[in-house]
Amino acid sequence: MRDKIVAGNWKMNGTLEEGQKLTSEIVNMIKDERVNDVKVVLSPPFIHLAGVKKLIGDVNHLFVAGQNCSDKDSGAFTGETSAKMLASFGIQYVIIGHSERREYFNETNLQLSEKVKQALANGLIPIFCCGEPLDIREENTHEDYVKSQLTESLFDLEAEDFKKLVIAYEPIWAIGTGKTASSDQAQEMHAAIRDHIAHKYGQELADDISILYGGSCKPDNAKELFAKSDVDGGLIGGASLKSRDFMDIIKSF
Ligand code: G3P
Repeated sequence: MRDKIVAGNWKMNGTLEEGQKLTSEIVNMIKDERVNDVKVVLSPPFIHLAGVKKLIGDVNHLFVAGQNCSDKDSGAFTGETSAKMLASFGIQYVIIGHSERREYFNETNLQLSEKVKQALANGLIPIFCCGEPLDIREENTHEDYVKSQLTESLFDLEAEDFKKLVIAYEPIWAIGTGKTASSDQAQEMHAAIRDHIAHKYGQELADDISILYGGSCKPDNAKELFAKSDVDGGLIGGASLKSRDFMDIIKSF
């Protein structure tokens, strides 16, 4: 049975004090309210990671992700953070290939392939992001576009490694826009992603990969999205910065 996961991508938000406040609110809510079997992943900026990890302590269901990692192991790469560094203090996941990093930092499918390998080599679980821009959706070539992202960045992995991945489908036109993909649109793409993986690695492995939806997922649409058979949770941006909204999304399964 594949994991149900709700991950909160804080992006570049939160002073140290704001991050501690948000984390404490979420930790207390998780302790007080039932999240059933959902894995909750907090992905704050790097400055928060050690503090969030400490605040979480040994609370069940709560995990921490970096928002990125270097495609290098170590060395003279000013400003970079390696997967090895993240793993050295117990970070469990890392978001790789978010559309904002592809757009603003020119991350290529090949570079992302190296980042995924660095994460796996250091025991981190990659949350690999894919998704099409609006013009591709309007041309109705979005499935091929997303499939090529997966093929070019991930399909050189052995099955033993691929099965550790989490995939996040984030249609770029839905990120931060308030224009969420419909649950049918999400299901259609998630099923296409799972089918593409099945053709490469077999149906059994494909059926065990968690595929998350991201892009204006909110408390009022999460239930319908998560009810779809190939939607295994969400990668949440704006709503993850509001503890009540984030918890309501977690409880939407
Ligand atoms: O990584 C999640 C993010 O891209 C979605 O952002 O604000 O549309 O939920 P948002």
